[in-house]
Amino acid sequence: MKHPWQRWYKMTHPLPTAVLKGYGVYLPQKILLNADLPPALETSDEWIQQRTGIRQRHIAADSETTSTLAINAARNALENAGIAATSVDLILVATSTPDNTFPSVASKVQHGLQAYQAAAFDVQAVCAGFVYALATANSFIRSGQYKTILVIGAETFSRIVDWQDRSTCVLFGDGAGAFVLQAETTGRKGIINTHLYTNGAHTEMLYTDGGASSGDLVGKVRMNGKEVFKHAVEYMSAAAQHALDEANLTIEEIDWLIPHQANSRIIESVGKRLKIPAEKVVITVDSHANTSAASIPLAFHAAASAGKITAGQKVLLVAMGAGFTWGSAVIQL
Ligand SMILES: CC(C)(COP(=O)(O)OP(=O)(O)OC[C@H]1O[C@@H](n2cnc3c(N)ncnc32)[C@H](O)[C@@H]1OP(=O)(O)O)[C@@H](O)C(=O)NCCC(=O)NCCS
Repeated sequence: MKHPWQRWYKMTHPLPTAVLKGYGVYLPQKILLNADLPPALETSDEWIQQRTGIRQRHIAADSETTSTLAINAARNALENAGIAATSVDLILVATSTPDNTFPSVASKVQHGLQAYQAAAFDVQAVCAGFVYALATANSFIRSGQYKTILVIGAETFSRIVDWQDRSTCVLFGDGAGAFVLQAETTGRKGIINTHLYTNGAHTEMLYTDGGASSGDLVGKVRMNGKEVFKHAVEYMSAAAQHALDEANLTIEEIDWLIPHQANSRIIESVGKRLKIPAEKVVITVDSHANTSAASIPLAFHAAASAGKITAGQKVLLVAMGAGFTWGSAVIQL
């Protein structure tokens, strides 16, 4: 039971909410169709589409890096929000494919945007990275520390897949997406909740076989596909349900489910478990493949720019990645 002055204080000093003010993306120009994959891989468009739903992926040009993708997406998001780069307080970049081991991609984005007043750092939670960065941004805004935060998911997985390994290289693509969040103390819009989870017992199921502290190479993606598939369905369904329960919402009250885009069969299984109609599930894995931390903002942008996602709706984001890391977020738009 709260003391009356506590209730009064809460009413007169509402916690800021993180409101989505704008979004943007960048996809490299080059598109690699399944049919154009090297014959030596001994794969086929039919096999890939049947098992994953993927038709094509974008591949970064030699002149592009994760930071250049991120800067382009960030510029588009700021323009969409109508907010100047000089107003940004914090830049968070979710990525597992930084240009260099250090400095962070976020530092390069800050320089690219000339947003020198902003603090900047990377968040590393692989395919769950965007949800992790969003949760971090939400906490900074709720605490009152920052007002305007740029959250970016950017990846160049084409640089770390083993192009001789058909069981992994066909699954990934490059791209970047960004959200601009801003603190508001009035109105009903904003992030309703976020939940993050980790189970470090399964790091050997999805990893790179190199890294700064374990060799002089970054390594290539290695994966136990079947195990990752099983965990992805279980973890994402549970995280999404937890988000609904905590927000006191039913699945019927959600307008769009925007899951991490790794495999259409994973997405369909999660949708079925949540009992959400397929028409309310955003799927872009067919055209982007798995862009890891960039997949959710890319999917959001595709549905929003097609006029499907609109103001006043509620969206449920959910993702799972290596680590295993996973998480969810509910946003009132
Ligand atoms: C990778 C994945 C599509 C493989 O599908 P699967 O049904 O589990 O297939 P399997 O791994 O059992 O392989 C079946 C066969 O297909 C072959 N195969 C694998 N990749 C292939 C490809 N691109 N083209 C043709 N054949 C392929 C395998 O070599 C295997 O052949 P074999 O039976 O002769 O050994 C699936 O496991 C998956 O999507 N897992 C989740 C991956 C993911 O989303 N990772 C990122 C999470 S963030």
